[in-house]
Amino acid sequence: MTVKIFETPEVQDFLKTVSGFEQAGGNERAKQIMHRLLSDLYRLIDDFDVTPEEYWSTVSLLNSLGGQTQFGLLSPGLGFDHYLDMRQDAIDAEAKRNGGTPRTIEGPLYVAGAPEAEGFARMDDGQDTSGETMWLTGQVRDVDGNPIPGAQVEIWHADSKGNYSFFDPSQSDYNLRRTIYTDSEGRYTARSIIPSGYGVPEGAPTDQVLKALGRHGERPAHIHFFISAPGHQHLTTQINLAGDPYTFDDFAFATREELVVEGKRIEDSAEIAKRELEGPFTEVVFDAELARTDALELQVRHKRPRAKEDEQDQASQLAGTAEV
Ligand code: DHB
Ligand code: FE
Repeated sequence: MTVKIFETPEVQDFLKTVSGFEQAGGNERAKQIMHRLLSDLYRLIDDFDVTPEEYWSTVSLLNSLGGQTQFGLLSPGLGFDHYLDMRQDAIDAEAKRNGGTPRTIEGPLYVAGAPEAEGFARMDDGQDTSGETMWLTGQVRDVDGNPIPGAQVEIWHADSKGNYSFFDPSQSDYNLRRTIYTDSEGRYTARSIIPSGYGVPEGAPTDQVLKALGRHGERPAHIHFFISAPGHQHLTTQINLAGDPYTFDDFAFATREELVVEGKRIEDSAEIAKRELEGPFTEVVFDAELARTDALELQVRHKRPRAKEDEQDQASQLAGTAEV
């Protein structure tokens, strides 16, 4: 087929009408962005001769994605989360905010309001007995290497099946989710279980999109962190455990070389006894460095709809920082 109508005045005028350009009300930025988006899509339909069947099956797929609240899952798979990180890195570099542990994507599975502890917390509820015991510890420092006591370290990760509490209703509330404040030496320690990698639900709309691209929906075993302290830039990051088949083949593009951590299996009975554990365990060490900033808005995580977090929580988080 050779029909090409995109460039015609009729279509160009139509796009302006559809985007509300002739209306006084509405939001100017929304109009501009919608106009650009629709123009790109209309052109695509013309260029690829998209058929009505293809168009309506896409509408149906979008409905399924929304119906199963999977846009947040597909977003990292299509690289948007990593792209926003790349942009943020470039913005930091331009503002000469250099140094510190690299950021990487938050992912869609954070839940606000996890139990808080000073220095140490046990994160698992003891139910997942197939999981290897993990001893996760590290120091939070500034870019000059000075420890930061009282830093807030939020940690969340999947269980031995790759599932997250809250999204997996079979787990107890806040299982494998904790907020730990660093001790006087800037250290945090968590007893938990080694997580398994995560895969997008088989056959779900996100999986259908990835399959159409010949891609998988697997993530390596990983552990999420939000780390913050007054006077320092909020850090959203993750560590990926070395040795997982997906460590460097992450469907969500979150792996960064500096964030791959090798767990160390420890069988020495004195080390086991020192930590009051019952048997061998795997130690995972992750030290983090926070860049300095006076800008309050950079000291807290960016706004985004999150499970159990409302606008008020975000406002008080900002106020809490301002008080210090
Ligand atoms: C997804 C899941 C994760 O656990 C994560 O960290 C990032 C993305 C996802 O399903 O898209
Ligand atoms: Fe995750």
